Amino acid sequence: MRSGVFFYSCNNMGLHVTWFCLVSMLYMICGIVCFEKKLLFSTSTGYLKDIDLETGVLRLLGNADSGVFALAYDKTERYIYVPRFTSGDILRFPYPNNKTIVFESVVSGNQPGGIAFDSANSHLYWTEPKEGNIMRCNSDGSNVITIINGTGTPAALTIDIANRWMYYSQDISNGTLQRLTLDGKESRVIDNQASWVYGICIDDQRLYWMDNLMGDLKSAWYNGSDVETIVSTNSTKRNWDIDINDDFIFYTSNTTILKTGKSPGQNLTVVHTDTDQITGILFYKQEGKNTCISKITNIVYKIIA
Ligand SMILES: *[C@@H]1O[C@H](CO)[C@@H](O)[C@H](O)[C@H]1NC(C)=O
Ligand SMILES: *[C@@H]1O[C@H](CO)[C@@H](O)[C@H](O)[C@H]1NC(C)=O
Ligand SMILES: *[C@@H]1O[C@H](CO)[C@@H](O)[C@H](O)[C@H]1NC(C)=O
Ligand SMILES: *[C@@H]1O[C@H](CO)[C@@H](O)[C@H](O)[C@H]1NC(C)=O
Ligand SMILES: *[C@@H]1O[C@H](CO)[C@@H](O)[C@H](O)[C@H]1NC(C)=O
Ligand SMILES: *[C@@H]1O[C@H](CO)[C@@H](O)[C@H](O)[C@H]1NC(C)=O
Ligand SMILES: *[C@@H]1O[C@H](CO)[C@@H](O)[C@H](O)[C@H]1NC(C)=O
Repeated sequence: MRSGVFFYSCNNMGLHVTWFCLVSMLYMICGIVCFEKKLLFSTSTGYLKDIDLETGVLRLLGNADSGVFALAYDKTERYIYVPRFTSGDILRFPYPNNKTIVFESVVSGNQPGGIAFDSANSHLYWTEPKEGNIMRCNSDGSNVITIINGTGTPAALTIDIANRWMYYSQDISNGTLQRLTLDGKESRVIDNQASWVYGICIDDQRLYWMDNLMGDLKSAWYNGSDVETIVSTNSTKRNWDIDINDDFIFYTSNTTILKTGKSPGQNLTVVHTDTDQITGILFYKQEGKNTCISKITNIVYKIIA
């Protein structure tokens, strides 16, 4: 609508502004086409899908043939990492990708559950709840090291790259949320009322998590104070992963993905309802604005030449 009006007024201006109009229009198209926003998710049956949040178009990306409870993205090398709980390994595939995805094997793990990627250091972290391990390797699966071993059934994991901390939850009813230095040497309990938390993430102010048992989506300051319940899904034992963008929290509950604001009392929107239970979720926003603008600029130069 807006670009239609723009086009009309462009046509009615003198020739001297035509190039300016053309360039502006290309930038506008660029804003719509190039900066896509998507939600990727996994189901309890191992399907990986994405939804374009602008158009609502749903795509089946592939089948991991295993329970997948979390997803991570390396925005530098542009890979999605997929921990396969039942198969006992971690795969990756390039994203964004228009073709059918082809998985690459990265590393084996003992029932990997949670996963997080530190793009600043090209390190992949994952949890092994049954073993009580948090593990790390390089993006290609080399140099596997144990960060913590044999304690506390770690489940969901997220990394605060700026402050060099990770936050993780536990796969038990009387669980805690803990903060750990990236080398695993110092830890601190942030919250001690977190039963089976499988979704955890942070923004530049607060920590957010989803309680699987009661379906309480909560948030607190990094130090654990000011805990508030944003939403109670009331869907017992069917609440899995969460992710955030600047304004919203996306969370999975049973067969649906929902969206709400970051504080209590805001509207809930159903983003998608699937045939299977939805487990892992990841918000993706295309970066690389400069690449896009330079592409458009090249097109403009070609037209002028
Ligand atoms: C996917 O296809 C769209 C439209 O055909 C194109 O603009 C985009 O560059 C393609 N992306 C990749 C990663 O190939
Ligand atoms: C964990 O610690 C135990 C005992 O110290 C050791 O036998 C085991 O190999 C360690 N596991 C890993 C994955 O490092
Ligand atoms: C949680 O409960 C189990 C068994 O009921 C107990 O062994 C464990 O010590 C408890 N953990 C914490 C952190 O309270
Ligand atoms: C926790 O962090 C918040 C926000 O930074 C701060 O206002 C509060 O005083 C801190 N609480 C404690 C107990 O340190
Ligand atoms: C869950 O139950 C509580 C208490 O009955 C209610 O206030 C809340 O709106 C319910 N949540 C949803 C998402 O329906
Ligand atoms: C989960 O969704 C299924 C299918 O819609 C429904 O039959 C079931 O009652 C739901 N379970 C819970 C706990 O909400
Ligand atoms: C919720 O949605 C309604 C209708 O779209 C809108 O009027 C209201 O302001 C929204 N409330 C919040 C807290 O965003």
